[in-house]
Amino acid sequence: MEGLVHYAYLISAVLFILGLRQLSSARTATRGNITAAVGMLIAVVATLIKQEVVGYGIIAAGLALGSVAGAVLALRIQMTAMPQMVALLNGFGGIASALVATAELLDLRPEAGAAGTPFGIVSVAIVLATLIGGVTFTGSLVAFAKLQELMRSAPIVYGGQQVVNAVLGLAAVGLGVVVALDPTAMQAFVGLAALALVLGVVLVIPIGGADMPVVISLLNSYSGLAACAAGFVLDNEALVISGSLVGASGIILTKIMCDAMNRSLGNVLFGAFGAASEALAGSDQQGTVKAYTPEDAAIVFQTARSVIVVPGYGMAVAQAQHAVRELAEELEKRGIQVRFAIHPVAGRMPGHMNVLLAEANVPYDKLVEMDEINPEFPETDVVLVIGANDVVNPAARTDEKSPIYGMPILNVDQARHVFVIKRSMNPGFAGIQNPLFFNDNTMMIFGDAKATVLELVEALRQLD
Ligand code: TAP
Repeated sequence: MEGLVHYAYLISAVLFILGLRQLSSARTATRGNITAAVGMLIAVVATLIKQEVVGYGIIAAGLALGSVAGAVLALRIQMTAMPQMVALLNGFGGIASALVATAELLDLRPEAGAAGTPFGIVSVAIVLATLIGGVTFTGSLVAFAKLQELMRSAPIVYGGQQVVNAVLGLAAVGLGVVVALDPTAMQAFVGLAALALVLGVVLVIPIGGADMPVVISLLNSYSGLAACAAGFVLDNEALVISGSLVGASGIILTKIMCDAMNRSLGNVLFGAFGAASEALAGSDQQGTVKAYTPEDAAIVFQTARSVIVVPGYGMAVAQAQHAVRELAEELEKRGIQVRFAIHPVAGRMPGHMNVLLAEANVPYDKLVEMDEINPEFPETDVVLVIGANDVVNPAARTDEKSPIYGMPILNVDQARHVFVIKRSMNPGFAGIQNPLFFNDNTMMIFGDAKATVLELVEALRQLD
């Protein structure tokens, strides 16, 4: 039976890797989810048939409770609230690993008839699972609270903060060494667990709500590392492999997000981004803007040969993706080429725009990545920016003083005509004004993204 379990774990690990591979393309992502889910099912069944299982009742109760809570959350959650949902899931993953480590440590107590090997693999893994799992748990809860606006989302900073955090971190490492040397040192273990929970809070509060998606991706990576450590604690290779896959993919995603914002991870974690930019919000008006009605805009659209739609966070907020697909179909009926330009950090989570447009059945081949579409803008008749702001801000190219200077952007300003749908002149995520709106070739259409796009569709139909 043990041999069978090992083979099953091996198969599930292969399925996890194949699933990840398939998840890297929108076309195969659904299949990737199913592949990885089958891998997880095999791993769960293999674990359940292990001889170490002491009672199925408690497992069934946990499974029922977790499944019901997960299904209710997944069905009720809004697409725009997905980042905080992921934060919660990471947090639960972290605390699960820490609890597994705690249970195993209790088994090592002399009263339990066992003593851990000093600095043995199990005692080191217990320390790592407790430390990383604890930080992940409370850090994720703070990230959740900031995004859900249950607490102030701006960075919470004070003098000497980084020194305090460093001292707490060193104290945790010190206690970790004590526990690794002597896994029966209960007081040191309790101190380590408490410090890990405190560290999660103090490390995340100085980070602005705006940077939370990056932090969540990093915490996702931590939750994987904690699970990997728990795998060593339990001597379970499926957990070791899946944990390291989560750890590695989380850190890769974190790097992709930082690169797309042209910021280092250090700047995200310690730069208190958002504290300074709040002061800039709404300031710095630069000249006048031209406001168009959807009816005026429809006339320009009708004469275009090529249109590039640039969706952003506002499209997600307004849930305008179905209206946008309707508009694209209306334009294509007139022989106009329509494509969608996708910036890697448009919206508030990785792949945000891809997911929304896929939900509205926009064909994948019409979605073009930033590097591929940027050379096309000078040859494009009309660009329609829908609820995007920072990702089309030319200050990132031209203004060295801008907080987003150096961030790769979609060069929409180079198109012949640019229409921007948003509700006001309010800034986006970075809290800075966008000179694009004041350009001669830019026309603003003020309004909610969904209502305005539907009005544009209607105006086009009226022109027939
Ligand atoms: P933003 O720069 O945040 O701009 C969104 C714009 O949408 C706002 O200016 C807002 O203007 C408008 N808007 C909001 N609700 C709207 C509605 N109902 N109808 C129409 N417009 C609406 O968005 P972006 O261009 O997508 O850029 C994303 C930002 O998030 C970047 O700065 C990026 O660095 C950051 N970020 C993204 C991620 C990921 S992974 N995607 C992670 C971390 C950070 P009004 O209020 O005037 O309508």
